[in-house]
Amino acid sequence: MYFALVTAVFSFFLSATLASAVPQGFVTTNGQEFELDGEPFAFVGSNSFWLPLLTTDTDVDTTFQQIVEGGIKVVRTWGFNAINGSELAGALESNLTYYQVWNSSEWILNDGPQGLERLDNVVETAGKFGIKLIVTFTNNWVGYGGSDLYLAWIGGENCYFLNIIPTLNEYAYLERYVQTIVERYKNSPNIFAWELMNEARCASDTYPSGPNCVPGTETITTWYKEQSDFVRSLDPFHMITTGGEGQFYWKDDTALASDFNFNGQAGEDFDRELFLENIDFGVYHMYPESWYPQALIPGSGFDTGELGPAMAAKQANKPIVLEEFGVKKANKSVIYPGWVQRAEDTKHAIMPWQFGALGLTEDGGNRIIKYTDELLNGASPNDGFAIYKSNTAVWDIFTSAAQVQDSRSG
Ligand SMILES: *[C@@H]1O[C@H](CO)[C@@H](O)[C@H](O)[C@H]1NC(C)=O
Ligand SMILES: *[C@@H]1O[C@H](CO)[C@@H](O)[C@H](O)[C@H]1NC(C)=O
Ligand SMILES: *[C@@H]1O[C@H](CO)[C@@H](O)[C@H](O)[C@H]1NC(C)=O
Ligand SMILES: *[C@@H]1O[C@H](CO)[C@@H](O)[C@H](O)[C@H]1NC(C)=O
Repeated sequence: MYFALVTAVFSFFLSATLASAVPQGFVTTNGQEFELDGEPFAFVGSNSFWLPLLTTDTDVDTTFQQIVEGGIKVVRTWGFNAINGSELAGALESNLTYYQVWNSSEWILNDGPQGLERLDNVVETAGKFGIKLIVTFTNNWVGYGGSDLYLAWIGGENCYFLNIIPTLNEYAYLERYVQTIVERYKNSPNIFAWELMNEARCASDTYPSGPNCVPGTETITTWYKEQSDFVRSLDPFHMITTGGEGQFYWKDDTALASDFNFNGQAGEDFDRELFLENIDFGVYHMYPESWYPQALIPGSGFDTGELGPAMAAKQANKPIVLEEFGVKKANKSVIYPGWVQRAEDTKHAIMPWQFGALGLTEDGGNRIIKYTDELLNGASPNDGFAIYKSNTAVWDIFTSAAQVQDSRSG
């Protein structure tokens, strides 16, 4: 009892000391709001995974210039780009950015001009333009060297995502990489937050859910706890979030029992993960076109999906970000205003997938930067979701929203 009291008093002073020591320019949370230097910080952000894949400083500058014109304050980008040894020759030839290469027995870090120096430039240039970055450490999906590759290359056959094989300890390799990234930028006010994994689920592109990752097993929540505690041990001040899609395990809700986003099958348990000590805010993604056939009809499951994260954030008293969303079949300028309005009503930050830049110069504008994403006629990759400023009907929805968010900020 006495001991517990002393510990409680001590940790109170410790957290008070830490809070007051947050360096200038770092974003923090206060209840359900973000704060920057003691003032509320509400924002419209965007996603640009490809920024560090650009090879010239000019194109990075051009992109940030357009980001600023869009009223955007926070940009989410990939802090990972890993390749395997057999891809190295092609990567060198095409000038592809890569940070790690797997040589069949070891990850070799590339911190040179075709590697982390490009991420350094993105982090530094963001600061020059007054933009803050959410940096994601790895991917649930195979793209850009995600967790599939850690499993495929290190674990081989018969392993499941997040089903760690102790003798191989795939995630020790990931932690070593995470440590490299965090230590590189831990003093930078240009980092908004660290993000553990893009869209962690029990199943990945090539690996099915293992027996340890089924509804109710909390495998992903436990992994989030371990990883967020680890990142916090390296960096006391930057915020940390999951990168998840905002899926739930509402086991008593029979109406949603067949809904992947609520029945726990995905593996996330949004209600619980938001209560983790070192998860500072929640994020959720919204792609109803690929989730629900009836998605665009009011009253469909997607509406519930949007309320779920809002309720969870209120319970946990933490901020929340609609971190990725989009439609590509439906008319964006018809669909987005309603979504943006609801995010504003519930005081969520808004980050559409994805930012579109125009007027890029490199390679005459036709360089395939990986997989099917390419720079075409000076335009950044368009997966059907990109929002370019030339599309004023869509662009203006977000610049107006940015003004609303600005008026709520200090
Ligand atoms: C690769 O990109 C770098 C800039 O990061 C540039 O200096 C170099 O000329 C490029 N190399 C080729 C072969 O395009
Ligand atoms: C390495 O990459 C190549 C090209 O993307 C791919 O075909 C091959 O399967 C990969 N090897 C491993 C072990 O993942
Ligand atoms: C991979 O890199 C490690 C560390 O540099 C080295 O010891 C090992 O021999 C390399 N393996 C291959 C196949 O190149
Ligand atoms: C999308 O909707 C807007 C607003 O109703 C309309 O002006 C525009 O023509 C539509 N675009 C397409 C491609 O249907």
